[in-house]
Amino acid sequence: MSARKSSNKPATKAKQANSMWGGRFAAGPAAIMTEINASIRFDKRLYRQDIAGSIAHCRMLVKQGLISAADGKKIIAGLETILREIEAGKLKIDLALEDIHMHVEARLKELIGEPAGRLHTARSRNDQVATDFRLWVRDAIDRIDAGLRDLQEKLLARAEEYAATVMPGFTHLQAAQPVTFGHHLLAYVEMVGRDRGRLKDARERLNESPLGAAALAGTSLPIDRESTARALGFRAPMANSLDAVSDRDYALEFLSAAAICAVHLSRLAEEIVIWTSAQFRFITLSDAFTTGSSIMPQKRNPDAAELVRGKVGRIIGDLNALLITMKGLPMTYGKDMQEDKEPTFDAVDNLELCIAATAGMIADLKANADRMHAAAGEGYTTATDLADWCVRKLNMPFRNAHHVAGRIVRLAEQQDKPLEALSLKEMQSVEPRITKEIFAVLGVDNSVKSRVSYGGTAPANVKKQIARWRKLLAKDGKHAR
Ligand code: ARG
Repeated sequence: MSARKSSNKPATKAKQANSMWGGRFAAGPAAIMTEINASIRFDKRLYRQDIAGSIAHCRMLVKQGLISAADGKKIIAGLETILREIEAGKLKIDLALEDIHMHVEARLKELIGEPAGRLHTARSRNDQVATDFRLWVRDAIDRIDAGLRDLQEKLLARAEEYAATVMPGFTHLQAAQPVTFGHHLLAYVEMVGRDRGRLKDARERLNESPLGAAALAGTSLPIDRESTARALGFRAPMANSLDAVSDRDYALEFLSAAAICAVHLSRLAEEIVIWTSAQFRFITLSDAFTTGSSIMPQKRNPDAAELVRGKVGRIIGDLNALLITMKGLPMTYGKDMQEDKEPTFDAVDNLELCIAATAGMIADLKANADRMHAAAGEGYTTATDLADWCVRKLNMPFRNAHHVAGRIVRLAEQQDKPLEALSLKEMQSVEPRITKEIFAVLGVDNSVKSRVSYGGTAPANVKKQIARWRKLLAKDGKHAR
């Protein structure tokens, strides 16, 4: 950055005013102006959407008699050539041409000459960029939704495998009650389901067309906004031209949904980090998802999980960046809004990576069922089962039962043994009506089996929930809309 000159001299080659809008300009911009103004380095990613939007716009102009069929043909053929060129990596970047919209138009002029100048009839870069960016975010939502669906499928497969695998359930990261690993994995299927729901809602509201709002006030030319909206897969044209060019809610909504989704992935990543630690040893990841240490030969680090956990920071930052960019903007378009793209691109790139890495780790992990089972019984996790038994069998008020179970736990703790190692006599010293039946509920397997209330952790419930999710996923097809 230090080498950058902040001189007010025009950029060497661009002495003349801009050919797109330079009518009233006598001289070109300062070099630093060109530099700060240009978005092509990042908005070139919109080329496909930009060309699709231009083709739809051109067809509409022909249909409305605003340009001739012959010119329309040349324009569309030219745009298709440009698409192929860019796809082949042949986009020539020129900062003086600012953005992808002007690059495409300038190249069109080189290819077909004068008719290129008719494409921008009844259009402005303001409605053009809003259209392109909506289309781009829509595509990103569809890709991310497909990735999340895949993640759900992977979670379901592992939940099925581990439907009856007992592990400790935690609150406050203290062993609380035994649960099944399948049930734990299904919790994430639910979270991801809500993430997909949020993306679907955002897509629904996003899916209106700004094209034809022109600079901000609409146009005096007889255009047909319905037809361009339809051609681009939008539900309808946006009803207010000012709103159409100034709205970035669709990016904000997407980023909000992305941030929440990233938080979910980060929580799962954190669990993977904990579970793979030598102290827990609940799961192992293969070499495919771990790395070694250059100094400590025994190490197997869960880097992928750590990076998923780490990337949530930038994704939340991306949301914040755009919220803050938008917060003080008066209607309608302001160049500030050019800052909408980089955070959105960054969030999409990184969220897609996180989703794929998470799906990979879920498919890769192996549960250490014996270790989980042993840990499930540590910390008197079946004390609630003991209390529930007193409620069920002795008709005790729960508060009293809680007290009885608490005293029995204290007895066991004093002798440093698990609950089931206490004798019946010892238990009866706390509550004489306790019978030997009590031992059936103290084991962790019976504990989880008994939790059949709706939403509970019993293996039978897990299997039912897996079947429910499979049905839902089959219904919403590969690309849920
Ligand atoms: N590159 C611009 C952006 O991303 C396109 C819109 C420019 N509009 C304008 N009035 N200068 O926002």
